[in-house]
Amino acid sequence: MSNPTLLILPGDGIGPEVMGQVTRVIDWFGEKRGLAFDVEEDLVGGAAYDAHGTPLHDDTMAKALEADAVLLGAVGGPKYDDLDFSVKPERGLLRLRKEMDLFSNLRPAQCFDALADFSSLKKDIVAGLDIMIVRELTSGVYFGEPRGIFEEGNERVGINTQRYTESEIDRVARSAFELARRRNNKVCSMEKANVMESGILWREVVQKVHDEDYPDVELSHMYADNGAMQLVRAPKQFDVILTDNLFGDILSDCAAMLTGSLGMLPSASLGAPNAEGRPKALYEPVHGSAPDITGQGKANPIACILSFAMALRYSFDQGDEATRLEQAVEKVLADGARTADLMGPEDGTPISTSEMGDAILAALD
Ligand code: NAI
Ligand code: MG
Repeated sequence: MSNPTLLILPGDGIGPEVMGQVTRVIDWFGEKRGLAFDVEEDLVGGAAYDAHGTPLHDDTMAKALEADAVLLGAVGGPKYDDLDFSVKPERGLLRLRKEMDLFSNLRPAQCFDALADFSSLKKDIVAGLDIMIVRELTSGVYFGEPRGIFEEGNERVGINTQRYTESEIDRVARSAFELARRRNNKVCSMEKANVMESGILWREVVQKVHDEDYPDVELSHMYADNGAMQLVRAPKQFDVILTDNLFGDILSDCAAMLTGSLGMLPSASLGAPNAEGRPKALYEPVHGSAPDITGQGKANPIACILSFAMALRYSFDQGDEATRLEQAVEKVLADGARTADLMGPEDGTPISTSEMGDAILAALD
């Protein structure tokens, strides 16, 4: 049997720096755990623009559609800020998401004990937190028509349309229920069915998918504004939160900050499962290209490393190996390893990107 394929797109700024550490981790799993991947590396974002005049070459797009999983660093940076909209680095990422039809965005919010003091909330509220937000990523108000700024009488009107079809709700709901079965079997779906028809339909379809195919999963519904309150009041009441594109954008950023630094946050974007039940998948840290620290060895590689852990779990059915990697991260943090983003100005000397990589590899050993 051939090895699973992994397409690596380091991108711009700190992308290549953090991906360098992930590559070492991937090699470790190949050597020590017999988990060999056929890894191919290519360009995306500004790096692709510099080489090809486009933020995503058609060949790269084709490789992404073929690969069992894609791992991306970050795109963008000041060098590209004045480029035409059509070739901006971000367009490369958007094209990947669109053509791979990645409708389910998974954003974990997990609090490592060693960093609980780092949260803006009290330690006992966040210690041990481990929740997952599933955000619909390809529809809703960011895509609905009509949209635009129009003349109306003697003034202008800005219009966006929240629009969800039953099948769009159905497929993302399924992905949340599947995920819940691999976790603590609990889904809370959030919308505003009290004031939005799209929310009424959302609630109906989620309930129907549940009753027909996932009755074993505990399902609750919550208005999204209450959800925001509950997230900061008592986040540990949740396991999987399922929500639409707009609410998910806000709630996932909010949940993420419960746990501390941007340098710690992984994500996955999943599409429809293929014949082997393996979804199209793109894994990436939540952070951007961090031009302010690029080239200084300061970047925290953990977000990107944890994104690879998600790939192990959700694309390659290697949940135990994913846990092994997450525990290695947990251990180095407990032992006090900190990149600059994980410490205050008076907390001593931070370690570098590659030293964090060294520590994680040592913990894996
Ligand atoms: P950013 O996430 O790049 O940086 C925000 C702040 O967090 C900066 O101070 C940065 O130094 C710090 N930071 C981010 N990741 C870090 C890490 N791994 N370790 C330590 N510190 C880290 O967001 P910003 O500054 O708004 O955007 C910079 C560029 O990145 C822009 O061109 C933007 O368009 C792009 N971007 C790309 C994203 C992607 O590729 N998915 C997402 C967000 C922004
Ligand atoms: Mg956001």
